Amino acid sequence: ASIGSYENILVSQPASGVTLITLNRPKALNALNSALFRELNDATEAADADPSVSAIVLTGSEKAFAAGADIKEMKDVEYAHAYKTNFLGHWTKLTTIKKPIIAAVSGFALGGGCELAMMCDIILAAPTAQFGQPEINLGVIPGAGGTQRLTKAVGKSVAMEMNLTGRFIGADEAAQRGLVSRVVTEGSVVDEAVKVGSIIAKKSQIAIQAAKEGVNASFELSLQEGTRFERRLFHSLFATKDQKEGMAAFAEKRKPSFKNE
Ligand code: CAA
Repeated sequence: ASIGSYENILVSQPASGVTLITLNRPKALNALNSALFRELNDATEAADADPSVSAIVLTGSEKAFAAGADIKEMKDVEYAHAYKTNFLGHWTKLTTIKKPIIAAVSGFALGGGCELAMMCDIILAAPTAQFGQPEINLGVIPGAGGTQRLTKAVGKSVAMEMNLTGRFIGADEAAQRGLVSRVVTEGSVVDEAVKVGSIIAKKSQIAIQAAKEGVNASFELSLQEGTRFERRLFHSLFATKDQKEGMAAFAEKRKPSFKNE
């Protein structure tokens, strides 16, 4: 079923609790123009607010997850306009989504496309996936996390090489470096991502939200503050019915039935 009416993305529900968002500018290799990103923000916010949704899968086409910010839209932008409008600032809305977002990447994930994948919580890669930050070839640098999230994911030397030379890395290298969680077989990346979403959908959604919040806090906090924050989140879950149910079910050797309360 198709949900919402958008021009640059497709929204569907391939499995219970899972929303699939497909970037749909195939002729432009899913170049991320401002209209597309507005729709993406709208669709992810709607999924976040919908109690029947537990996880979001974000994908592109076989050839391209996304080949970056739309260069044709961007080429005549002037500094004053970029600064006054906080150009690309609205991309960070994706990082405020509370529900897990799984990127299913086939083909090119370049520039803003690589940065978009890195804003997601889990990246699964098809064998054809290629990640890169080629902005340097355009006389600029990444503007949506390519110098920051990539460095945290793969370390300084690889991030420097990718940002300074524009070298792409393939799926296997991306997995070896920890940029993606795994490489799946050809043609199965969306199905595998939906399966991950379905697994997440069966857990306590309160615990899922806390787990995402905890992992993300590790990027912002010192180890001491981070583990303290984690412990407080952990304590708070003892106020939920799902904790009572989860632990009672274990003790009684049965499957838990979480109510997200
Ligand atoms: N913006 C706008 N249009 C793009 C695009 C982009 N980022 N990437 C591809 N397209 C368009 C092409 O212009 C082409 O359109 P036409 O058919 O109208 O000519 C169409 O998509 C197909 O692309 P190609 O013919 O180039 O396909 P290819 O297979 O020969 O090459 C590619 C594929 C290597 C990915 C090449 O398209 C390419 O280098 N794209 C640009 C990659 C890039 O530089 N990305 C970074 C953008 S800047 C950025 O993202 C800033 C940021 O940090 C936020």
